[in-house]
Amino acid sequence: MTDHIQLATDGKSLLLLDQRILPGREEYFACTDTETTIYALQTMVVRGAPAIGVTAAYGCWLAAREVAQHAADTAQWKNKLTALLDRLEAARPTAVNLRWAVRLMRGAWNAQMDLAALTDTWLAMAKEIHSQDIAINKAMGAYGAACIDDGDTVMTHCNAGALATAGYGTALGVIRAAFEQGKKIKVIANETRPFLQGARLTAYELAREGIPVTVACDNATALLMKRGLVQKVVVGADRIAANGDAANKIGTFGVALLAKHFGVPFYVAAPSSTFDLNTATGEGIPIEERTPLEVTHVGTTQITPTGVPVYNFAFDVTPAQLIAGIVTEKGVLRAPYVENIAKIIGGK
Ligand code: MRU
Repeated sequence: MTDHIQLATDGKSLLLLDQRILPGREEYFACTDTETTIYALQTMVVRGAPAIGVTAAYGCWLAAREVAQHAADTAQWKNKLTALLDRLEAARPTAVNLRWAVRLMRGAWNAQMDLAALTDTWLAMAKEIHSQDIAINKAMGAYGAACIDDGDTVMTHCNAGALATAGYGTALGVIRAAFEQGKKIKVIANETRPFLQGARLTAYELAREGIPVTVACDNATALLMKRGLVQKVVVGADRIAANGDAANKIGTFGVALLAKHFGVPFYVAAPSSTFDLNTATGEGIPIEERTPLEVTHVGTTQITPTGVPVYNFAFDVTPAQLIAGIVTEKGVLRAPYVENIAKIIGGK
């Protein structure tokens, strides 16, 4: 599945398969400017750290097109474009791939470029980031598949699949690669309250490819592990600190603690762009808090008493000591993470 992020045939907008309404309906949402791109990111038309990065890269191109339509003189277009990029970069706080992509684009903006040249450069870069992401996921899958044994049942939390990337997936890329190698594996997809990325998106992706998948309530993990029904856990990440602490969808930390208790190896799969070497530990990772409506309502039905407050933290941080390995496109990193991340990801 690679067509969930695509350029419109007229070359004027970015089309995103609307993940808010999957698996019931397959409809595309058009991003035509910065406003619609930020809306798509914030309401989770598109979600998942690498997919957010790819969308943000195209978002910079859309911002440049938007400015070209409105701003007359040079000083005006530069200031206007900078302000749009600032807003885009802040659309979601936890997934570092968003900042990574926008900063890559800013880095290619040289003072001599006119707006037309910059727009062309950014479109070419966005296309490159888009296609590179699929190649990176395949490389990650090849390394990660070695961590999965024939006959394993693999638990995953949230959706770190094709939909969360440009295609193939990070955690689901590892699972796909093991499956493609002929390993007889099964997957448990945790439903992932409140947005239900596991129940709706992971189950949708795997089922349409014939990879055996069972959806479990988030609170079933302890029982499933106690019964010996889980041999490995593989999840994605939104940001990995320099010491290997990994932010991922709320509930991941609990799964990792249970995995440690029951002796189940817990792996994180993420590309280099998800590492934030400027953040020393997980303590420094900002945790997004989303609208209470995601918790108080299921669809349009209210399920909590009116006026009762709820928590809706979207992510938590799994400490590095609970992680058996971090699968990247450069290989599987193991403890000691500070040294190995600095060497393999930081090139030191
Ligand atoms: O809020 P979301 O759906 O964007 O959160 C996504 C996750 O937590 C994923 O597991 C993570 O981004 C890895 S995606 C390859």
